Amino acid sequence: MSKPKVFVTRKIAKEALDMIADVAEMEVWEDELPPPRDVLVNKVKDIEGLLSLLTEKVDASLMDAAPRLRVVSNMAVGYENIDVPAATSRGIVVANTPGVLTETTADFAFALLLAAARRVVEADTYTRKGRWKTWGPMILLGHDVHHATLGIVGFGRIGAAMAKRGKGFDMQVLYYDQVRRWQEEKELGVKYIPTLLELLSSSDFVTLHVPLAETYHLIGAAEFAAMKPTAILINTSRGPVVDQKALYQALKSGQIFAAALDVTEVEPIPPGDLLLTLDNVIIAPHIASASVVTRTKMATLAATNLIASLRGEIPPHCVNPEAVREKPR
Ligand code: GLV
Repeated sequence: MSKPKVFVTRKIAKEALDMIADVAEMEVWEDELPPPRDVLVNKVKDIEGLLSLLTEKVDASLMDAAPRLRVVSNMAVGYENIDVPAATSRGIVVANTPGVLTETTADFAFALLLAAARRVVEADTYTRKGRWKTWGPMILLGHDVHHATLGIVGFGRIGAAMAKRGKGFDMQVLYYDQVRRWQEEKELGVKYIPTLLELLSSSDFVTLHVPLAETYHLIGAAEFAAMKPTAILINTSRGPVVDQKALYQALKSGQIFAAALDVTEVEPIPPGDLLLTLDNVIIAPHIASASVVTRTKMATLAATNLIASLRGEIPPHCVNPEAVREKPR
């Protein structure tokens, strides 16, 4: 029997590519940049499996160009790049990679929190620019993290992992979520705040851990107005959760102290974006899960999901198990 055809949209960990190569006829897109749309449309023509990243728009028209496609395995926990209902109605399984990146993402979110609070990036620039003349009692003063109040928006896996880190720094940890997490409240010693505005006005640090769904521009002008002038915003979730124009105004006017972002409304952030003119914002290129071990785990999990689907099984992390019940293509 001939092996199924698979297209992998970027070079990922060798362990994962070896797993796929064992069971499929595999093509890997080797460039640093994603395949352009016309190339992708062409590549999917006769494949059964697609291993995609967040950078690929897997919409109905791409699926229509891929009549044999049975699985889209996204190497990410998020999957807003995929039109899931369109996939389900075509009997295409969609899978993602939750769980394996929780602690690594929380590490990075906390690194951003510390860096913004203690102005680490500004301090490095200050040194490199030759501005370090003496020990200055008033230079580069930041804000304490220990014993401050951490406000977590979205208390899923990553939000809870942030809470643990906050507790390690003796922070008071508050959270806001649509669902109250009684068990975690007890286990982690965190406090539920029933409204977003109340959480924002009570927190020294606000960290976002919500998926991009009904959360578009969840944090905008009214929300910044509720925050303390000393507050620091950390966003490692999705860029569009924050209204970036409102963020610029809040940072520029001193309505909040600083922000640290791993994600932006448009990625990569356009070179002319006004945020890039400010010293009190740190912007990383969407790397929260980027540790060697975690990216390898994400890649092998994406490969496992892909292979299971090609075998006709429901993969370990299936977003739309109902697709399997649809008529196979
Ligand atoms: C990264 O942002 C992911 O969703 O895995």
